[in-house]
Amino acid sequence: MSLPMRVKMAPGGPEVSRLAYGVWRLFNDGQQADVQRVLAQIQTCLDCGITTFDHADIYGGYRCEEAFGAALRANPSLRQRMELVTKCGIMLVDPARPQNRIKHYDYSRQHIVASVERSLRNLATDYIDVLLLHRPSPLLDPDEVAEAIRQLIAQGKVRYLGVSNFTPSQFDALSSRLDQPLVTNQVELHPLRLEPFLDGTLDQCLQRRILPMAWSPLAGGRLLKGEGGAEGRVRAVLSELGRQHGVDLDQVIYAWLLRHPSTIIPVLGTQRLERITSAAKALSLKLDTQEWFAVWSASSGREVP
Ligand SMILES: NC(=O)c1ccc[n+]([C@@H]2O[C@H](COP(=O)([O-])OP(=O)(O)OC[C@H]3O[C@@H](n4cnc5c(N)ncnc54)[C@H](OP(=O)(O)O)[C@@H]3O)[C@@H](O)[C@H]2O)c1
Repeated sequence: MSLPMRVKMAPGGPEVSRLAYGVWRLFNDGQQADVQRVLAQIQTCLDCGITTFDHADIYGGYRCEEAFGAALRANPSLRQRMELVTKCGIMLVDPARPQNRIKHYDYSRQHIVASVERSLRNLATDYIDVLLLHRPSPLLDPDEVAEAIRQLIAQGKVRYLGVSNFTPSQFDALSSRLDQPLVTNQVELHPLRLEPFLDGTLDQCLQRRILPMAWSPLAGGRLLKGEGGAEGRVRAVLSELGRQHGVDLDQVIYAWLLRHPSTIIPVLGTQRLERITSAAKALSLKLDTQEWFAVWSASSGREVP
């Protein structure tokens, strides 16, 4: 039996798809992100039930949101069939931001509001479904963030707030000042990164009944190519499971994440349309408990205590 493709991200939160599609690598292969190419990606996702698209202001050197927005301008009816997640807070040293002398984070009210307004223009939309604070900052003032979010929600520009790469205590500190609950924590999560399973990150999501999002679910492709060490060990186990189930290795990795009780949402990063379609089939692959722990032990290099 297949897992449902629609899930609620948090109590009272948005409905999203069980797999999300990440737009970070749009310009990675040196190709132009022309409208037809982006439309084909969007259509392939929607055809598989993937309706949640993960952006950030900085992706593609501040160009990805605009390229995606050009596709929505070409076909505006697509907007109502999707949820848009975007992020703010990282300040890159980039020709597009000549005022940034050093890479840093900015969670001032002024910056959050300006960043959202720019994302809205770039994405050709009136609202962001879920805004994420991209990375925690030692200078983040929860009261100031709360003010900015209050304003953006009152104006209808943002519907829900979440975070990314936050520790549980950073998550709690921010939550304590907000009018509404945070709806997700997007973290790096894959069989080569077990920390979130152990450091309280996923426990906190379970406790609050919010769904974590897993970025780089294939470890940025490393899991498909790994030779020695943990990468090689995990890859060997994944390949064997793939052979036994008659599926591709990337589907086994997604199924491994999907098996966790916190209802992890893997954020796909592939640029290949056939790999998007294949990822969606992972919802019908259920790994049993021992298969799951075989991957875990291959990653940690020892059996569980
Ligand atoms: N919040 C954060 O701080 C943060 C950080 C990083 C990323 N993200 C989000 O997470 C999303 C996904 O990250 P990601 O792109 O690193 O995800 P990923 O799925 O771990 O990695 C994608 C890479 O793996 C390659 N790949 C996929 N399937 C493969 C296969 N079967 N064989 C060989 N290579 C394969 C892809 O190449 P092909 O294109 O050729 O398939 C692509 O280069 C991003 O788009 C972004 O939205 C968030």
